[in-house]
Amino acid sequence: MAARFLRTTCFGIGRRCWARGGVRLYTVQAGPGSAADVAAFASLEPHPRSVQYLMSTVDVSKIWAFLSTELPIRYAERIRSLEQVPHWEEVPDLVEVRDIHLDSFKAVREAQVDTFAQVAHEAILREQRVVDMMAKSMHYLRRDHGDVITEDFVSKFLDDFLLNRIGCQVLLGHFLACRAGQKSGIIDPRCNTKKVCRAGAKAVLEMCVSCTGLCPNVFVDAYSACGNGLDDDDTPRFPYMPHILKYIVMELLKNSCRATVDMLRAGQLHADDYPINVIVCADEDHVTICVADQARGIPRGVNAWSYLYTTAREGEYGGEKRLAGHGVGLPLSRLYARYLGGALDLVSLPGYGTHAYVNLPRVQTQQVEVVPDADYQYDYASLLNFTV
Ligand SMILES: Nc1ncnc2c1ncn2[C@@H]1O[C@H](COP(=O)(O)OP(=O)(O)OP(=O)(O)O)[C@@H](O)[C@H]1O
Ligand SMILES: [Mg+2]
Repeated sequence: MAARFLRTTCFGIGRRCWARGGVRLYTVQAGPGSAADVAAFASLEPHPRSVQYLMSTVDVSKIWAFLSTELPIRYAERIRSLEQVPHWEEVPDLVEVRDIHLDSFKAVREAQVDTFAQVAHEAILREQRVVDMMAKSMHYLRRDHGDVITEDFVSKFLDDFLLNRIGCQVLLGHFLACRAGQKSGIIDPRCNTKKVCRAGAKAVLEMCVSCTGLCPNVFVDAYSACGNGLDDDDTPRFPYMPHILKYIVMELLKNSCRATVDMLRAGQLHADDYPINVIVCADEDHVTICVADQARGIPRGVNAWSYLYTTAREGEYGGEKRLAGHGVGLPLSRLYARYLGGALDLVSLPGYGTHAYVNLPRVQTQQVEVVPDADYQYDYASLLNFTV
């Protein structure tokens, strides 16, 4: 490797070398953003953080000290993994996504504590279209190079790439929230699950009416097995990011509403007879959310978790806020659930309906980021401990 590293106050951990208080790495021959610089950071392991860490680290300069080296490690990992996709250079969207990440990597490498807020804002805006671009690109690659771009390859690549992305977005969001004076940053220490699910349901129903003209019935109920003051009566509360919870619930409800509307239309049925139920419940260790519809289920044999699978036709659920159509809602929601040690499962009851279960740990020591990195392999099977 062309780059040479000078490390200060280092102590070794395995084959890595870390400075006290976090990673400090200085490249002297390669400028920030050069190929060697990216390669150097890509060879480092990320440092997953916990909800507990985020809640107790709200000092902006402290967060910046961590992010100034952690974000380049995570961006570099994504750049490296993208450049390893066979034929990636043939797809203009993939080239653009690589450039977007290089821009963010370089900006973070050159930022100082007083310019970092601007850099963080710009990175979030710059990367807004990335999920869409990646999903579309994988469709093209699969069509043109199906021999190497298999469905399994796409799933593994996008799972790792997008999980890494979620982590960066959360860390950037945490910095900005703390800078804006929010006491626990991006975390709501007592996230009100029922309220978040109700807000998600309201937003999806509005979207459903504007896309289809029909409005299914959605009921949100909450229960708790904790009689120790952990929850407010029956409303489970736990430290979490409300916007992530809302995203997951909305994606599940979008699917249930769409399937319900399709069924109502096809059979000239009444919405009152086919309600969608959202059940929020909790014990001391987990919060579980079940979204249950009666829209006949998902056919056996299809892989609804595939980023390449959708039954929505182009423009079918059109409008600005599409109810369905990309094929990424389920796999991406599962990543959001996994990000802090949770899980998302689907049970299809053919001819009856679909139950989706979101299971999230609420014990802070278990709420730790999952950050994929080619240098160390995640045991996804262990995450499935949380399945119901
Ligand atoms: N509750 C459900 N009932 C019936 N089919 C479902 C349900 N949930 C998902 N599906 C099927 O799985 C497919 C994939 O779902 P997914 O949410 O990943 O993508 P999508 O809804 O097609 O598009 P989007 O990216 O906008 O979510 C859907 O197109 C649909 O065929
Ligand atoms: Mg969907």
